[in-house]
Amino acid sequence: MAEAVLELKGIRAGYGSVEVLHEVDLSLRRGSVLAVLGSNGAGKSTLLRVAAGLHPLGSGSVLLDGRRVANWSPDRLARHGLCLIPEGRGVFPRLTVRENLWMSTHLGVTRATAEEIAFARFPRLGERRDQMAGTLSGGEQQMLALARAVIVRPKVLLVDELSMGLAPQLVDSLYDSVRAIAADGVSVLVVEQFARAVLGMADRAAIMVSGRVVHQGTPAEVEEHLSSAYLGG
Ligand SMILES: Nc1ncnc2c1ncn2[C@@H]1O[C@H](COP(=O)(O)OP(=O)(O)O)[C@@H](O)[C@H]1O
Ligand SMILES: [Mg+2]
Repeated sequence: MAEAVLELKGIRAGYGSVEVLHEVDLSLRRGSVLAVLGSNGAGKSTLLRVAAGLHPLGSGSVLLDGRRVANWSPDRLARHGLCLIPEGRGVFPRLTVRENLWMSTHLGVTRATAEEIAFARFPRLGERRDQMAGTLSGGEQQMLALARAVIVRPKVLLVDELSMGLAPQLVDSLYDSVRAIAADGVSVLVVEQFARAVLGMADRAAIMVSGRVVHQGTPAEVEEHLSSAYLGG
């Protein structure tokens, strides 16, 4: 098995004639957490959407477990273990917590197992199982988004800015959950505007500026370049 579970090589992508990703190279090592930092508009969400098959790849290649998967559909990628938690709250607001969890059962997990996995990891969700997701707090909605992702036992989890609009303390506890999910063997690629939120829990980090990766390394190495690269520290 390849050491890298997900490889993005020379990725170019954009909107219409405007290119926003310029030859991005990133490699996610098996069983690790990679944090990609960048300010608003750097291209982080576009990159994750390309990796998840939700946005067309201009050129370059995407390898999942050493296999070329560029132009695969999001469903096919999901069946092969790639799961994206999109920016914002990745939940259905007008469904209850349990119904949201059931939406993840199409990949062969029973409803009972889905609830078991979710409530074991996030007891708070168990207490609110019959509450409409839209009435949960922002942090609880992100827990639900994470729970929906772990139910399918993904190989690779792509996480887009869990911190969005949440208090720092809550963000720390959500990323503690991400770290715990990684400890169970899931490889995680997280993109974040706020370096503070993720550098402490990442194994590797990268800084993206205007659609280019400008630094890569250990969190400590990357932290040294943060203030010069962008004001997200
Ligand atoms: N739907 C869209 N149509 C046109 N341009 C877009 C669209 N979405 C994003 N962009 C542009 O692409 C660039 C990267 O955006 P995005 O990937 O959302 O960055 P980030 O997630 O780092 O904030 C920005 O310049 C943004 O304005
Ligand atoms: Mg974004």
